[in-house]
Amino acid sequence: MLIHDFFERSQFEEMSEPIYMTSGYTYKNAEEAEAAFKGETERYVYARYGNPTNSILEKRLAELEGGEACFVTSSGMAAVFSSLACCLKAGSRVVSSRALFGSCDYIIQHLLPRFGVETLMVEGTQLHEWEKALSKPTDVVFLESPSNPTLDIIDIPAVCTLAHQAGARVIVDNVFANPLVQKPLKLGADIVTYSTTKHMDGQGKTLGGAIIGSQKYIKELLTPFVRNTGPCMSPFVAWILIKSIETLPLRNDVMCQNALAIANLLEAHPLIKKVLYPGLKSHPQHALALAQMETGGNILSFYIKGGKEKAFALMNALKTFTISNNHGDSKSIITHPATTTHQRLSTEERAAVGIDDSLVRIACGLEHQNDLVRDLEKSLDLL
Ligand SMILES: Cc1ncc(COP(=O)(O)O)c(C=O)c1O
Repeated sequence: MLIHDFFERSQFEEMSEPIYMTSGYTYKNAEEAEAAFKGETERYVYARYGNPTNSILEKRLAELEGGEACFVTSSGMAAVFSSLACCLKAGSRVVSSRALFGSCDYIIQHLLPRFGVETLMVEGTQLHEWEKALSKPTDVVFLESPSNPTLDIIDIPAVCTLAHQAGARVIVDNVFANPLVQKPLKLGADIVTYSTTKHMDGQGKTLGGAIIGSQKYIKELLTPFVRNTGPCMSPFVAWILIKSIETLPLRNDVMCQNALAIANLLEAHPLIKKVLYPGLKSHPQHALALAQMETGGNILSFYIKGGKEKAFALMNALKTFTISNNHGDSKSIITHPATTTHQRLSTEERAAVGIDDSLVRIACGLEHQNDLVRDLEKSLDLL
């Protein structure tokens, strides 16, 4: 599916999918153009609307996710914002989990209210909070599970049931998993968004996003929004992603195995206060993670004894882990959320989602497991 499907070779019988690097398309005569613009014929009319290279990627991602249709975007945030904005208007109501990626938090807490959308955040792991918030008619439920960076697991089927009873569509930002670790549509969600920048690219080369849902949602709500506002993906990026997702299953296996090995190592280390990894028995929602995820994923976080000083000392001592704020890369990445991805939040807001100065996040890559383990052991010994 990720290697052969939805590829119609041109007259040149090329092996690899071609890049259609074009902004427009031509018509044999004026009548053909008129029919295309009237919507009487199905064809490409402008790259902001669609492109044959993007279409191959969109069809493969929809199939992988178990969705009916997909639209690829210029970034993960373009996907998140478009998925929400296309189905909201002044007076709409959104209920969201509180533990969100910083920019998603900005959209929910600050941007949408500017346009008259009522937004409410709940503690995602507490079903009674969802129940209370969804006792009123609601238009959209937005959530991220596992959450960034504390790896909270939300009971997706239970929240979807409550959301649907309140009349809401459920949008899941599945970036911390990936379609091979968790399939939110199968768990009851209506729409899934991705930052393809992460696991799908897999080598930190490109910025992109994807929105997957029903044919009706994509065609009737999302398409008019994206056609007129222009968050589309470049065909060049789509082509890179077509090549990258061919190896996603192989990369995902190695990354997740590396994460489990590192989580086990850290959990047994005297300098580590606590490890947050859904694949560990000690994770508070381990049973739920097992029920809705295939593996614990490739990301883990931990609280280190000695706070920011020791966290920074460890990050600076490591040789195989790169200090950065991305994830899903072949290079393992280490991040200090309080001073980077979540520094915009106040200390109290960070505390409310479990982020303090001693929290460190690791996104495992594809290095040999022994190299990662040895580097961590050696660096911890230096502290
Ligand atoms: C959970 C989550 N959602 C959305 C995004 C946004 O993706 P992008 O950086 O491709 O816009 C990120 C990026 O870090 C993320 O971690």
